[in-house]
Amino acid sequence: MLRPKFHFTAKYGWINDPNGLIFYKDRFHLFFQFNPNGLVWDSMHWGHAVSNDLIHWEELPVALFPNEMGDIFSGSCIYDEENLSNLGTKENPPLLAFYTSHNMKTRREQQCIAYSLDGEDFKKYKLNPIIPGKDNTPARDPHVFPNKIKGGFSMCLTVEEKILFYHSKNLIDWEKSGEFILPEYALQGMIECPCMISSECEGKEKYVLMMSMDIPESEFNKIPEEASVHNRLMQYFVGDFDGDKFVISDIKEKVKLVDYGRDFYAGTVFSNYPKNIMMAWLGNSPESMKIPTESEGFRGILSYPRVLSLVKNDDGYFLKQKFYPPVDADKDVDYKVFPNKEVLKDGCVTETCESGLFFSTEISV
Ligand code: FRU
Repeated sequence: MLRPKFHFTAKYGWINDPNGLIFYKDRFHLFFQFNPNGLVWDSMHWGHAVSNDLIHWEELPVALFPNEMGDIFSGSCIYDEENLSNLGTKENPPLLAFYTSHNMKTRREQQCIAYSLDGEDFKKYKLNPIIPGKDNTPARDPHVFPNKIKGGFSMCLTVEEKILFYHSKNLIDWEKSGEFILPEYALQGMIECPCMISSECEGKEKYVLMMSMDIPESEFNKIPEEASVHNRLMQYFVGDFDGDKFVISDIKEKVKLVDYGRDFYAGTVFSNYPKNIMMAWLGNSPESMKIPTESEGFRGILSYPRVLSLVKNDDGYFLKQKFYPPVDADKDVDYKVFPNKEVLKDGCVTETCESGLFFSTEISV
């Protein structure tokens, strides 16, 4: 029996990135990159599951199907409480899903919206795309968040080795507001699934820009020694947001990883919830690809949720992560928690999938 008890898996099919995590109408909604017709990556849909406690998930029918514009790639959700988009009503404001439509033939990537009035039944916006794209030009994985500095909403998305920022007052019309370029000291490579969060630390509002990356071997010498990551990993930066773009504000130029294990990718947080709770895809390492879960009808696992906060020391700000809801190591059956003092420094958690078991390290700074 390889199917994990606490980690989300689809009843049948391939899953990769968690998408559009949101707390809406008293339930946690989890969407995910999904091939409901097979156990390999193909024809991306948004699968859907809901939970009251982040532990027990009920899988619902597929939320978004591919259409003539393309497959439904990763993105995020926003509860448009004031019906700014006019896609709902004042009485029943819409839930908006921002996704990338990826055309498999032309490799054109465009940002699109789907909306729902009950969180289950989604319609694609008639005037999609909201941000048009060009053939053979990557531009994907929109993460939309409320803009606390100048009002309205911001979106970050990735164009290979850069992140672009957009701003909108009504969630439909978007204007480019800035760019983020990887600093030289950081791990360079292709960026996917950017995720911007804000968090208070020692009385200051700081911002964290997290991103998933595919790095070439030539960058491996920059990886912190304690980490056992491979070429697919999550890197983050701490800084400030001026309302248009993110600016790094750290004291020391130091590579920061979200997770020190071999399997943690495309992590993103629940929108419309007071805590930053993150889930990621466990299934992007060479080892996990070999776990023979096909016989049980699934391929791909999502991480146990973690709550994120910031801590500060002489080297700068670091992400602190705790499993959420807390994991009681003694009571867990197939979930082992190994406190590992070695990795304690940066307040990291590793949750690596090896030979079908989950090895986890919880750290408090
Ligand atoms: C990350 C990713 C995203 C993309 C999706 C496609 O794993 O490649 O950039 O939107 O998966 O399934």
